[in-house]
Amino acid sequence: MENEAQPELKGVYISTYGCQMNVNDTERMYSLLEMDNYTPVTSADQARTIIINSCSVREKPVHKVRSEVGRYRKLKDQYPDLKIGVAGCVAQQEKAKLLKDIPMLDFVIGTDNIDELPKVLNEVKSENEKKVQAKFDHQSAYSVETLIRNPGIASFVNIAKGCDNFCTFCVVPFTRGRERSRTLQEVVADVQKLTERGVKEVTLLGQNVNSYLSSCEGNFAHLLKAVSEQTDIERIRYTTSHPKDFNEELVDVMNSHNAKVCEYIHLPVQSGNTEILARMNRGYSREDYLKKVDMIFKGLPNAVLSTDIIVGFPGETEAAFEDTLSLLDEVRYETIYAFKYSPRPFTKAARFTDQVPEQVKKDRLQRLFDKHNALAFDYAKDYENKVLEILVEEFNDGVCRGRSTQNKVVHFKSDLPHIGEKVMVKINTAFPQTLRGEKV
Ligand code: SAH
Ligand code: SF4
Ligand code: F3S
Repeated sequence: MENEAQPELKGVYISTYGCQMNVNDTERMYSLLEMDNYTPVTSADQARTIIINSCSVREKPVHKVRSEVGRYRKLKDQYPDLKIGVAGCVAQQEKAKLLKDIPMLDFVIGTDNIDELPKVLNEVKSENEKKVQAKFDHQSAYSVETLIRNPGIASFVNIAKGCDNFCTFCVVPFTRGRERSRTLQEVVADVQKLTERGVKEVTLLGQNVNSYLSSCEGNFAHLLKAVSEQTDIERIRYTTSHPKDFNEELVDVMNSHNAKVCEYIHLPVQSGNTEILARMNRGYSREDYLKKVDMIFKGLPNAVLSTDIIVGFPGETEAAFEDTLSLLDEVRYETIYAFKYSPRPFTKAARFTDQVPEQVKKDRLQRLFDKHNALAFDYAKDYENKVLEILVEEFNDGVCRGRSTQNKVVHFKSDLPHIGEKVMVKINTAFPQTLRGEKV
């Protein structure tokens, strides 16, 4: 009857929005607070500290924070010592303004200030004063040890933070600051430590992993090679790749280390029209992108690609949108993540005068998904009767769940849990998002 008990005095609950960076940051916050004698709890009503780890990449982020805070009104009335804070990209973007706009909030903690969270929270509690800590650290090198309380089979490891690309639609360079990389040896040591705690698969994380650069120690291809050769990790993935920085050296390393490096590549294109790509400041044309895709499939014939697409970017005509549609015929994307363009504060594109009407964006998004859905069903059928190596991550009610090297989610029945093991599975039925099969 945990829920009926009084919330623990040091219970802390964090709700998480946005990308994997935020998921990792949430885990870091829980770990740091646990070291400071807080107790992570699984629902807000068990907590005396609630943190909203926010995302501002698309529509109405401040509104989402405000409405979540509103849901805690009753709790705050019941427990006046309950402290509510905002972390993540909305916190970094709005800073002290959030405290004014949402009076129920007690603190704001920026994306570069997570390690100061225990101190800030203790001050908020002991001084009973509101606090804002949201300054970028422009001085120190980026050095962190991954903090995960209970690493499972698959784990994420930050290799770089921030972004210097300033795509004209994107708020991330403003919410995550300038790009900085961890040293190669630090990442290698971190991954090895995780393997010693049972982790079998790591995903190396950065806003643009291909521009990873460790002073004196090399680029992303060197890092991938080092993690593969110098650790006991069994599988390596990475995300996100920027097409402009994707090069042959990386394809070669993926190829020569394919026993560990998975052949799944998320390669966000954003648009299939060269003019729109230029206005987005992406640094490549449609043709450049298609050349990179060719290079990938030449070096890695079994590669699986996914992408991100924005529809209705300012100035996107019907013809320009059709260039994005036709790209789907030219590039085999097994998964697409598509979004309506949403103007973001500080960004250049928000000031472009040729914004596309909401209804047009909506229609284009639907047409894009309709087209991709039809293709994805056909792509999925190609998996039927194939045998794939599945790294099992979960076991429930006699069913194992895991992923193939190509990042396909696979379910199969089993008497044994097989968690953390690689099992060969023959696929019987295949849908775009999941495959079902049996052990061979
Ligand atoms: N660093 C990654 C992207 C991070 S944001 C990269 O460069 O690919 C994740 C995705 O959100 C982007 O790829 C883009 O498709 C989408 N996105 C970002 N800003 C957006 C905006 N203002 N409106 C709509 N979608 C956006
Ligand atoms: Fe945003 Fe572009 Fe940086 Fe990706 S590369 S985070 S889309 S600015
Ligand atoms: Fe969102 Fe920030 Fe990630 S804006 S997508 S949480 S980097």
